[in-house]
Amino acid sequence: MWKIQLFKLNYDDREVKAVADVVKSGWITMGERTIEFEKKFGDFLGKDVKCTAVSNGTAALHMALLALEIGIGDEVLIPSLTFVADINVVKMVGAAPVLADSTSFEDWNINPTEIEKKITDRTKAVIVVHYAGYPCNMDAIMKICREHNLFLIEDVAHAIGAEYKGQKCGTFGDVAAFSFFTNKNLSVGEGGMYVTRLDELDKKGKHLRSHGMTTLTLDRHQGRAISYDVVQPGLNYRIDEMRAALGIVQLEKLPNANKQRELLTNAYIQQLSDINGLVIPFVNHPDCTSSYHIFPILLPKSIDRLSVVGLLKDAGIQSSIHYPAFNEFSAYKKEGLLCTPIANEISRRELTLPLYPTMTLDDVRFVADALKEILG
Ligand SMILES: Cc1ncc(COP(=O)(O)O)c(C=O)c1O
Repeated sequence: MWKIQLFKLNYDDREVKAVADVVKSGWITMGERTIEFEKKFGDFLGKDVKCTAVSNGTAALHMALLALEIGIGDEVLIPSLTFVADINVVKMVGAAPVLADSTSFEDWNINPTEIEKKITDRTKAVIVVHYAGYPCNMDAIMKICREHNLFLIEDVAHAIGAEYKGQKCGTFGDVAAFSFFTNKNLSVGEGGMYVTRLDELDKKGKHLRSHGMTTLTLDRHQGRAISYDVVQPGLNYRIDEMRAALGIVQLEKLPNANKQRELLTNAYIQQLSDINGLVIPFVNHPDCTSSYHIFPILLPKSIDRLSVVGLLKDAGIQSSIHYPAFNEFSAYKKEGLLCTPIANEISRRELTLPLYPTMTLDDVRFVADALKEILG
């Protein structure tokens, strides 16, 4: 249907073999490949982090809030411009989400000054999102969290492999939550990673993932245990071996795939930067290496976004929106969420163009030419 779709899997025979090997092995639920994936992902991040592979990124975020014992009566600061999972998990644990605005039309990440302004004596934690793969201002955010005694949770769904001042995103906070959803830079269909440097939070994460149980089915299968204790209430947020095996292959491909995304992003920037009124965010974003997860643009003010989406579609190009404002959703309309003018305007004018590692420079030119023609 599409000449150029928004995202394409970076899969080949290696993924096929990885899954086939698991199926042939006779062990498909969480086991040795999960342990290998966790170890390799931890080595990739550095900083002696401990990793717990889970069923999706939302599960990892939910576990982070539960592990930090955030609940009724607490406030959690979140970026106004993010996927709905961040506000949903805060609501799901009974805490109150408080929105912080984006920094500017050039830097869409959460504004540290906004965080500081919105702290109250009920604020317990801050969730940051490295939007599109561009790291937040971690020096400023970590300073605020230290000074106000707040937990820091990194939502790293967009930023797998991104670095801030040479340190990988996902290693700054108390807990980080990664997503390996289909369209992410590391893609297994559905999957996620709960990451922490702290032994206590690691232990809690492992228990939360699997019913609070002290042993796994694998331990009993291998004769290491015959029973188990339940040391806290928990959930079933486990991953399976097929997806862990996909994760191992995808992790090996990630550095080259992210480099390819960078090349394509730079080509987009070069070809679109002379359009009047169009803003490309995060150009020359300081102190960082991005993971170039998506390519977002801010359409000129006077442009009707829906008609652009329609005309791109007519040209065979898929586009998307990251993200509608929370107060446009039925569930959050009546919440009385704080006003965040920059993020709300970004939500109204943002358009995401296709970006994936197997895209070609000719594809980028095709999209850029179509957009230039549409914007006249
Ligand atoms: C910023 C952000 N946070 C959280 C999530 C949730 O991840 P998942 O879909 O794996 O539950 C996503 C992905 O969809 C995301 O983009």
